[in-house]
Amino acid sequence: MTAQIIDGRAIADEIRAELRERVSALKERGVIPGIAFVLVGENPASISYVRSKGQACEQIDVRSETIHRPEDISQDGLIALVGELNADPTWHGVLVQLPLPSHIDEGVVTRAIAPAKDVDAVHPQNMGRLLWGEPTFLPCTPAGIQQLLLRSGHDPGGKHVVICGRSNIVGKPLAALLMQKRPGANATVTICHTGTANLPEVTRTADILVAAMGKARAITADMVREGAVVIDVGNNRVPDASRKSGYRMVGDVDFEAVSEKAAAITPVPGGVGPMTVTMLLSNTVQAAERAAGLGEG
Ligand SMILES: NC(=O)c1ccc[n+]([C@@H]2O[C@H](COP(=O)([O-])OP(=O)(O)OC[C@H]3O[C@@H](n4cnc5c(N)ncnc54)[C@H](OP(=O)(O)O)[C@@H]3O)[C@@H](O)[C@H]2O)c1
Repeated sequence: MTAQIIDGRAIADEIRAELRERVSALKERGVIPGIAFVLVGENPASISYVRSKGQACEQIDVRSETIHRPEDISQDGLIALVGELNADPTWHGVLVQLPLPSHIDEGVVTRAIAPAKDVDAVHPQNMGRLLWGEPTFLPCTPAGIQQLLLRSGHDPGGKHVVICGRSNIVGKPLAALLMQKRPGANATVTICHTGTANLPEVTRTADILVAAMGKARAITADMVREGAVVIDVGNNRVPDASRKSGYRMVGDVDFEAVSEKAAAITPVPGGVGPMTVTMLLSNTVQAAERAAGLGEG
């Protein structure tokens, strides 16, 4: 079997086109969706992530601004800044780029974001609502994975989804999302981690296998059932002398070997990555619709 490639860029483009229409509808009512990014320090990866999020906003006419503060900003100073952004009605979303310098408690700062503006869906109140099955912002990477599955014709309903990884940003919220009793979810979910005994035995039971481990090519062909759908969240740098940069990005799945066995698979890059930013845009538009008394709330 040669797997269908689930094209994250194409699906992200499709969703962004839908969002552009919703942004136009908001503009007709005088509402311009806006998101404020808070960037602390000079971490090159954080600077690059925030820049690409800003560019994605521009593409669909969402207003964004990056508020850049020095590495030595105090925790109280940062919380005060978040408070100002919370209080400003022109910002529908507030995102604090992580990681923060070690003298700042990320949990405290995350909790300072108003849940109604928490478009990155990291506030414990929004994570709790997700678990309860209540309307909330959906965490971006898990929501992106759900859309990849649905829009490529692989509804998780009734399927056994095995997720390798239990982080607060991917594994746990994805499990919470896909186990909900509702259309587009309704899966039987198993979570694996470094404490899982005989991982290959568990992964081979998956109809849908999600790899979110941060370990280059850890999922090998012998760990995948013939005909499974494989979603690769991993984003790992490996040395590559043939590239100018000296490295290239690979996923957590041995793509070449696994794609001979799987029914469908996401590539890296071009799979989950473009979806994560797209779902951030989606949450920002949703926040603006809520503020304008539109949408599903
Ligand atoms: N494309 C995107 O938009 C996007 C978004 C988010 C993350 N990512 C990427 O996805 C990967 C995971 O990110 P994360 O933040 O969720 O990572 P993380 O916080 O490092 O968590 C990794 C998880 O994988 C588990 N794990 C690691 N090695 C394992 C092994 N050999 N067997 C079984 N489980 C193992 C860990 O288990 P323990 O809990 O037992 O340690 C942990 O739960 C990274 O490569 C990251 O860059 C991509």
